[in-house]
Amino acid sequence: MIAGDGVGQEVVPEGKRVLERAGRKHNFTCRFQDFDWGAEYYFTHGRMMPQEALDLLRPSDAIFLGAVGHPDIPDHVTLNGLLLPIRRTFDQYANVRPAVLYDGVASPLANRKGGDIDMVIVRENTEGEYAQVGGFVYHHQPEEVAIQTSVFTRRGVERIIRFAFELAVRRDKKRRVTSITKSNAQGFGMVLWDRTFKAVAAEFSSIETESLLVDAAAMNFIRRPESFDVVVGSNLFGDILSDISAILVGSMGLAPSANLDPLRRFPSMFEPVHGSAPDIAGKGLVNPLATILSAGMMLDHLELPQAARDVEQAVAKALAAGKARTADLGGASSTREVTDAVLEML
Ligand SMILES: NC(=O)c1ccc[n+]([C@@H]2O[C@H](COP(=O)([O-])OP(=O)(O)OC[C@H]3O[C@@H](n4cnc5c(N)ncnc54)[C@H](O)[C@@H]3O)[C@@H](O)[C@H]2O)c1
Repeated sequence: MIAGDGVGQEVVPEGKRVLERAGRKHNFTCRFQDFDWGAEYYFTHGRMMPQEALDLLRPSDAIFLGAVGHPDIPDHVTLNGLLLPIRRTFDQYANVRPAVLYDGVASPLANRKGGDIDMVIVRENTEGEYAQVGGFVYHHQPEEVAIQTSVFTRRGVERIIRFAFELAVRRDKKRRVTSITKSNAQGFGMVLWDRTFKAVAAEFSSIETESLLVDAAAMNFIRRPESFDVVVGSNLFGDILSDISAILVGSMGLAPSANLDPLRRFPSMFEPVHGSAPDIAGKGLVNPLATILSAGMMLDHLELPQAARDVEQAVAKALAAGKARTADLGGASSTREVTDAVLEML
């Protein structure tokens, strides 16, 4: 468990409470090990986590993370000091971000009701635009040049696209995969992406496909969100589009995510999509449901599918009952009261 910074400190304990309750009901126990890494650790030690951090995490079955980020530390330091090394070292190449509009929750889009939106963004998580390749020339001088290179490997692109198709089969909902591209402007990486998408799609004849430029996808997420099932995109495109899908279903506070090593060689990591939300941290206002839904995804990955379904249904029922809601969903309940409502349903 890495609660991390800001609201991460508030939501991770709520996730634990739900995991413990689910364990009592479904007869399993979680052994938690807490790591106090993040901004406070950085202020004392000058780094976000210790040198041996990855070795300490390696024997775990899964990693449960709150959020990292602090107003006094540049975001590239917090991201590159903790989150990205974990994702890359453990080859968590599939970042899975579901967006479900639950009954009782209002979408900012008119005329959409519970059940109308049910999509999952599959984001490539190890390379693409977030590969740290590049540098500065004439650093800090007037003629300074920055070069930032995207890296697309055939292996990396193919395995994430294949994962997306397999997920569409497993979900068995609309059986549709949408590929996000920008090959009209990015004539190398995205052309490899498009070609690979076509090749993998040919192996899944029962799955309908669509390829959208990222700008058109942003528009269509708003215009026809109900048409999407599995959406697969590069690191940057997946990151941006999953914020749109998160808000379409009512709040960032409802968006869970999994960083998966689908081959199970390393621990996978589960975390809410949102960040450390310094504007509301420490006040007991943060919505814990994104974290609780992430705990559900973790149980599914740990091969406890019934417990996972139960956790998601408890969240859905608590939302439909409509009594306990944090401010982001128009309510006045505290973080703890919302978790209590979920525990009651569980
Ligand atoms: N995975 C991560 O750890 C992660 C992800 C995104 C941002 N960050 C970091 O978090 C810090 C803050 O970033 P930001 O403000 O852009 O994004 P953010 O997600 O922290 O917050 C955006 C807005 O949404 C609200 N919000 C977010 N989650 C909420 C919840 N569960 N309940 C109620 N309201 C919620 C916040 O109050 C804020 O107004 C930055 O340092 C950033 O780098 C970390």
